[in-house]
Amino acid sequence: MKLSERNYKADFPVFEQYPDIAYLDSTATSQKPRQVIEAVAEYYRSENANPLRGLYSLAVKATDAYENARAAVRDFIGAASEREIIFTRNATESLNLVACSYGRANIREGDEILVTISEHHSNFLPWQILAKEKNARLKFLKCSESGEYTVEMLEKALTPRTKIFACAQISNVFGRLNPIRGFAEVCHKNGTVIVCDGAQSVPHLPVDVRELGVDFLAFSGHKMLAPMGIGVLYGREELLEQMPPFLYGGEMIEYVTLCGATFAELPHKFEAGTVNAGGAVGLHAAIDYINALGFEEIGRREQSLTRLMMREMAEIPHVHIIGSDDPDEHHGIVTFTVDDVHPHDAAAIFDEAGVAVRAGHHCAQPLHKYLNLQSTVRASIAFYNDESDVHRFTDCLRTMRGRMGYGE
Ligand code: ALA
Repeated sequence: MKLSERNYKADFPVFEQYPDIAYLDSTATSQKPRQVIEAVAEYYRSENANPLRGLYSLAVKATDAYENARAAVRDFIGAASEREIIFTRNATESLNLVACSYGRANIREGDEILVTISEHHSNFLPWQILAKEKNARLKFLKCSESGEYTVEMLEKALTPRTKIFACAQISNVFGRLNPIRGFAEVCHKNGTVIVCDGAQSVPHLPVDVRELGVDFLAFSGHKMLAPMGIGVLYGREELLEQMPPFLYGGEMIEYVTLCGATFAELPHKFEAGTVNAGGAVGLHAAIDYINALGFEEIGRREQSLTRLMMREMAEIPHVHIIGSDDPDEHHGIVTFTVDDVHPHDAAAIFDEAGVAVRAGHHCAQPLHKYLNLQSTVRASIAFYNDESDVHRFTDCLRTMRGRMGYGE
């Protein structure tokens, strides 16, 4: 498949400054297009005041900008109402919110919480802590060698005591897409709430929460072209209504007396303190950018580059890709090891060649232990990458063992 001719890097000022960098770490954070940077600057230039508080015109502008961003998120993920869209700092905070609020109110001693073995620590630790606090049992759904989880595997692991199932839609190590819709169906038949980490999926493919049937979906703005510090929690209104607030303070209350308080309506009940309006505006601009580009084009480019990368990697001896051999199961995420080369040495050699990749455990230590690996290298692709990035990467990989003093 041939890549479209358009040079998307031209939209990203960082590549003007660093024209020779092959940025292959978009799974950690995406680069930001001019349209997003400008939208944030424009908000601070001409609309800034404290949203949701002031009654003067500038504050109304700020409130409108913030709430318009919420409406854009609602449409982007197919939620039924803005009341279901909570702005947070990032996916991590969104997942902590669910564990601390829904989890503390609903999990009892002896209940089970099921998580996949490949979860990012963000969708792992909040459940581990909750299980300890409540004397509940944390159980793990293990994947196949290629990183696959099937609906049947989940069905077998669920018990009448399983109250929560937490699962990423796309793993940040395998890049594999999980069958969330099927998972949600079996969870609901079992009376289990499904919490989906969409940090790696929402930036790359259309995600519709009602079509998927998830109860909660968490994602970060910074992985989808928006600034750092803005994230989203989607929750089904019926569940959010019953949940207690997560943080307490300004703007999340209705009425406060010396000995009590009543709380604001959704979604503001969960947004204590001054909000990140500039971040929300940036997220809105990112959504507009993605909508104009279209997920078809995003998917086509990312898939084509992943195929090229994996085809070239397959010809390099001593390189082992984690997960499936099929590039279409990777969604732009290619995690690997090189015999005898420590991932941190590999990352340093890549850096010298102008290639930015991530090395380490990628916040998925339980998965690495399960796979009997200490650490790995991860190259991740976004639509703004091109063939020259992939070639810079594979050219460096080809000579890597030689540079470390090993022969063929
Ligand atoms: N969650 C991000 C990653 O996987 C930081 O790299």
